[in-house]
Amino acid sequence: MTRDTTLESAIDQVNAVVEARLRAPHVRAFFHEPTFTATYVVSDDATGKAAIIDSVWDFHQPSGRTSFEAADEIVAYVQEQELSVDWILETHAHADHLSAAPYLQEKLGGKLAIGREIVTVQGVFGKIFNEGTEFARDGSQFDRLLEDGDVLMVGDIPLTVLHVPGHTPADMAYIVGDAAFVGDTMFMPDYGSARADFPGGDARLLYRSVRRLMRLPDKTRVFLCHDYKAPNREEFVWETTMLAERTANVHLHEGVTEDAFVEMRTQRDATLEMPKLILPSIQVNMRGGHLPPPEQDGISYLKVPVNAL
Ligand SMILES: [Fe+2]
Repeated sequence: MTRDTTLESAIDQVNAVVEARLRAPHVRAFFHEPTFTATYVVSDDATGKAAIIDSVWDFHQPSGRTSFEAADEIVAYVQEQELSVDWILETHAHADHLSAAPYLQEKLGGKLAIGREIVTVQGVFGKIFNEGTEFARDGSQFDRLLEDGDVLMVGDIPLTVLHVPGHTPADMAYIVGDAAFVGDTMFMPDYGSARADFPGGDARLLYRSVRRLMRLPDKTRVFLCHDYKAPNREEFVWETTMLAERTANVHLHEGVTEDAFVEMRTQRDATLEMPKLILPSIQVNMRGGHLPPPEQDGISYLKVPVNAL
């Protein structure tokens, strides 16, 4: 091979990588109003491969009953579109809804993955819920524990994993082509940012994580885990762009310093109630979406630790 053709083939290889990264995946959002959560099915048109991000298992707290309405919508969509699910991803151990990951995995296949720092979350909450030794705190409830910089594939499109702690220690963002799934870091520009006062939360880390995300290109499509509407906005919206976030996010736009953000976030968090479903959510989500093991009567019970949170 001459020097020229070697160079040319190297350039072709680089171009192929760049092209794959810039490829726009197909993104279908499902918004769950009872918990204000957006679940995403992100897929590669060329191969029909897909990942599901942040699913919801319906839980009716007053009766303690679960149902699969939200999850069945995902199953129906994936089957209609004839997608093949390779990954079921969590951006973090959610404190406001239960994950339907095990149900989706049973119906659709795919590997369940979450950030490696889930082990820290399991340690903290294993203690709060006084779990015995049968509750493994090593992340073994998941098929894969992800680290910053890991790359998974959604068909031919690379999915890059970024560790974005702050809301919790285990938060991950998933960058797929031109789409960023940022979990609970920033929300819509008119709403701001996620809270940072759960055990293991850290407003300073959250600021740094968001600044890191904001280095993504301006035209990046940004998909949020939640929306709660906002003053002067009557509709739920869960998609924006990095340009809009960088220039207009009410808590985190360019020019807001780390100290100013930490002060604002800390004051605001002190006024917030705990999420309605935090106790059931954490007990299930730290187990990868499984209920605690049933007692002798075959029923699973969820605990309420009194004055512990
Ligand atoms: Fe969250």
